[in-house]
Amino acid sequence: MCQMVFDRSLIQNCTYSKFKSCVLLLFRSGNVKDGSLVACAFSPSGNFFVTGSSSGDLTIWDDKMRCLYNEKAHDLGVTCCDISSDPVSVLSDNENGFKYFQMVSCGQDNQIKLWLILFADFLGVELKHKCTLNGHSAPVLACAFSYDGQMLVSGSVDKCVIIYETSTGNTLHSLCQHTRYVTTCAFAPHSHLLATGSMDKTVHIWQLDLKQPSAGNTVETESKVAVEDWSEDDVSAWLCAQDLADFVGLFKMNNIDGKELLNLTKEGLANELKIESLGLRSKILQKIEELRMTTISVSVPDEFLCPITRELMKDPVIAADGYSYEREAVEHWISNKRRSSPMTNLPLHSLMLTPNRTLKMAITRWLETQQKC
Ligand SMILES: *[C@@H]1O[C@H](CO)[C@@H](O)[C@H](O)[C@H]1NC(C)=O
Ligand SMILES: *[C@@H]1O[C@H](CO)[C@@H](O)[C@H](O)[C@H]1NC(C)=O
Repeated sequence: MCQMVFDRSLIQNCTYSKFKSCVLLLFRSGNVKDGSLVACAFSPSGNFFVTGSSSGDLTIWDDKMRCLYNEKAHDLGVTCCDISSDPVSVLSDNENGFKYFQMVSCGQDNQIKLWLILFADFLGVELKHKCTLNGHSAPVLACAFSYDGQMLVSGSVDKCVIIYETSTGNTLHSLCQHTRYVTTCAFAPHSHLLATGSMDKTVHIWQLDLKQPSAGNTVETESKVAVEDWSEDDVSAWLCAQDLADFVGLFKMNNIDGKELLNLTKEGLANELKIESLGLRSKILQKIEELRMTTISVSVPDEFLCPITRELMKDPVIAADGYSYEREAVEHWISNKRRSSPMTNLPLHSLMLTPNRTLKMAITRWLETQQKC
């Protein structure tokens, strides 16, 4: 059972708050022709809002309750919607003064649609369909943007939670740990935390590990391409970002670029670079190791990653659901008394795990080719 303890002083403070004489007045109201209203969201500035109806319509209203725009969006009915609270952007090229807001709508049709709400005083409002995000196999019940609008989370009757990147529509993560419908989800405002709640009576808090290369700011965006292509200056920037600025001169003197950096060994640091301190050598090696890992994780084929841990598999095993997992991760999953597939949530008929040798060999071969280049 969950219990909440109230601090009496908080309760007393409430009665003296600035809202003590708050009166709620019905301001305005509007109505739709078909279906019932099931979703609504305000724009960040509060001067318009969107509603979604069970008949599938999305309607944009202004604060004077004028219906500005209506569009049939989800055939079987809208379930929820959200407008991104990130600062209003202005499309730069050719369009003068168009403001746009990102909006998402979900439906009984299993779909998530991303929209741009375009706002121009002289043209009114327009809803532009940006893309449809697939991935759920049942009606989508909840959705929310991250604070900066760059990610989107959704929860569904299929018991899964999906996190999308809004700029590309790509799926970043698919989480299927809830055992019943996922009915609510939210991002924390300023951290990489995410909450999901389900009819299974659990609420999960997830920490997003965005696995970005750990190089310095300037290098960060480029390093996603390839550390091997780093120039000596990129290496200097990386050293500074790792708190190893003292070595910039030494690395430059030895003409260490990205390729050389990834190739550095304990012996190389001691004999060629003549770094005497064992502690510093270890620190540098550890940072290089991290760099190698992030370089790898950027381009690993998806089927080499364990669906549970999202890490490269070392000992892939096939479970009764036909999917391959890292042995340790799936054993841990099962030992937590979960007899359901991490991927489909259907019961596992058997708890037998069979090594997937083909996959293991493919991973080994792939790792070898990575080390060569
Ligand atoms: C990497 O290291 C190996 C062995 O230390 C060496 O033979 C090879 O030439 C190095 N490659 C580069 C690009 O420096
Ligand atoms: C091994 O894993 C691969 C990749 O996930 C899969 O295509 C293959 O079918 C699996 N092998 C078996 C025997 O299930």
